[in-house]
Amino acid sequence: MALYLKTNYLLSNTKLSLLLSLLLLAIFILPSQSNHAHGLTQTKLTVYFQNRPSGPKATAVAIAGIPGQSWGFGNFGTAFSTDASMTEGLDKSSAQIGRGQGIMVTTAKDGSSLTLLLSIVFTNKEYNGSTLQLQGADHQFENPREVAVVGGTGKFRFARGYATFEAFRVGKSHVVSRCNVTVEHYC
Ligand SMILES: *[C@@H]1O[C@H](CO)[C@@H](O)[C@H](O)[C@H]1NC(C)=O
Ligand SMILES: *[C@@H]1O[C@H](CO)[C@@H](O)[C@H](O)[C@H]1NC(C)=O
Repeated sequence: MALYLKTNYLLSNTKLSLLLSLLLLAIFILPSQSNHAHGLTQTKLTVYFQNRPSGPKATAVAIAGIPGQSWGFGNFGTAFSTDASMTEGLDKSSAQIGRGQGIMVTTAKDGSSLTLLLSIVFTNKEYNGSTLQLQGADHQFENPREVAVVGGTGKFRFARGYATFEAFRVGKSHVVSRCNVTVEHYC
């Protein structure tokens, strides 16, 4: 009886380790197959964000700040919510290809820099529904400035790269920022 039990135990143990090996093999093989089925592609894009820094149609609004202190882009501890139209060209009447939606918090004590978390949400034909995630220290008074592209979805799955912003004032209360994105992704 004892012997039988032992054999059975050994048998199931062997089965188990075989199963585990297969599972491990699958874990190592499957992702590399799906990642490299299509090679690594580099995509460069130039897009324009139509920003209104203030007024009733402001594209960035302060949502929190240090109680009893001034809230603003140059004030440490101020958090903003942003949603701006993204166009193909500098002109605001040029084709809209998506939106830039995110949050910014003034995280430099001297107010010189924000931490930016921005989703570029595409609505144009080519990238409809795909997104890019931008993140980093946004030295708001430098022109140009650069943040990292840390990920993406849809056509930009596994995206990594960088993005630059250059601001052009085109009116009293209208600032257009040109954003150049360079990303590597599998597509
Ligand atoms: C983008 O996708 C949405 C939802 O699937 C669809 O309604 C819209 O027509 C698409 N736009 C373009 C430009 O293909
Ligand atoms: C952004 O791209 C444009 C061309 O589309 C180029 O003229 C400009 O110098 C680039 N800006 C930066 C900061 O690389």
